[in-house]
Amino acid sequence: MINSVKGTRDIIPPFSYIWNRTEEIAIKTFSSYGYLEIRTPILEHLELFQRSIGEDTEIVNKEMYVFKDRKGRDLALRPEGTAPVARAYLSTELKNQLHPLRLFYIGPMFRYERPQKGRYRQFYQIGAELLGLENPEADGEMLEVLIVFLKNLGFKELEILINSVGCDLCRKDYVVELKDYFEKRASQLCENCKDRLDKNPLRILDCKEEKCQPLKEKAPSISNFLCPDCKRHFEETLKLLEKLSIPFNINKNLVRGLDYYTRTVFEVVSKELGAQNALCGGGRYNKLISDLGGPPVPGIGFAIGEDRLIEILPEKFIEENSFKVDYFLIPVSQNETSFCFHIAQAIRKKGFVAITFLEGKGLKKGLKDASSLKAKNSIIIGEEEIKSGTLTIKEMATGFQKTVPIQEFLEGIK
Ligand code: HAM
Repeated sequence: MINSVKGTRDIIPPFSYIWNRTEEIAIKTFSSYGYLEIRTPILEHLELFQRSIGEDTEIVNKEMYVFKDRKGRDLALRPEGTAPVARAYLSTELKNQLHPLRLFYIGPMFRYERPQKGRYRQFYQIGAELLGLENPEADGEMLEVLIVFLKNLGFKELEILINSVGCDLCRKDYVVELKDYFEKRASQLCENCKDRLDKNPLRILDCKEEKCQPLKEKAPSISNFLCPDCKRHFEETLKLLEKLSIPFNINKNLVRGLDYYTRTVFEVVSKELGAQNALCGGGRYNKLISDLGGPPVPGIGFAIGEDRLIEILPEKFIEENSFKVDYFLIPVSQNETSFCFHIAQAIRKKGFVAITFLEGKGLKKGLKDASSLKAKNSIIIGEEEIKSGTLTIKEMATGFQKTVPIQEFLEGIK
């Protein structure tokens, strides 16, 4: 037997139906705000991620699937969706469309992490990006879209942790202070972070090593170094969130593990996922597109880990959105099969799920399959029924059975 690759998995029925339903609600919610789908390739040039996420980040340094193609080009499986969106902005017609641009994506991402519950090497993200606006209203809309989507799935008590990581100007003095703080305590850092001290001390703040956690918690916070413009942006964003009744908590230690962020950053966490596993991450990236060689187009967005989202979906959502067979049609013999097809079609037109028993192995096996599928009703169609223009309906839970004229039945189902 050949197993699936470590850290990857198959999403199989019937649970795949919950994935479909979740994605349908994402599409419906996002498009109601004017966000339309962008599908970018899974393969990109390695350089895209090196230049956007940053060479010293965990993702680029340790977690990327990188390989050479047959012509020796350095390619990577995308570890996230924002850099590809920025790349697509620059290399397609998007840049000439009316701004701001409202985009969303759903698809697989790849990171070579240690697999565990909620952490996979192939995982799925549901993300949205708003390109072309710098003002706090854009931050407000983005967070509203996120919260409304989660509410539409039935979540009630999720918390947004928010912070500002400032801009290059704020970071100048901050990085000096941060470096000084960690240098004085270098012996308590992991080997990677010792390396980061010179290269990019900011990245120490999102190191996942146990050893570095206590030092990180007491490190100086960027929030004391924000320049007046960044400070104003953050305050106005928070005010807007209050007006929109979007619940948030300021977390001064929140920095995020990707280099492209400026100003607002946020995460959504859930107790059920544990401290290391955020449900969603996002933030503003005012320099990403210009750093990739484009014009100064600011952006903000988020990505939800779909695997994690599905693991903690409210019970009620699962119950209401699991696949259910409304009618299972059983022809008593093969002679009635095509008739069953017609009736099933009429039922589907009314918006119900109807499956026809195709094996032609008689009533007993048909009813057995109906109960294995947990069908709500079976419809038994034999020679008699066809002659008299009736259907025999059996309610599976109670065993109650009745024979009704076809027309009456079809008019009656709602
Ligand atoms: P990120 O925080 O790296 O941000 O990932 C977003 C979410 O993807 C995480 O909160 C988590 O739920 C999920 N995720 C990440 N790695 C894994 C994994 N190995 N297994 C399962 N789920 C995982 C980004 O990717 C940014 N592009 C978000 C963004 C969009 N920022 C601006 N726009």
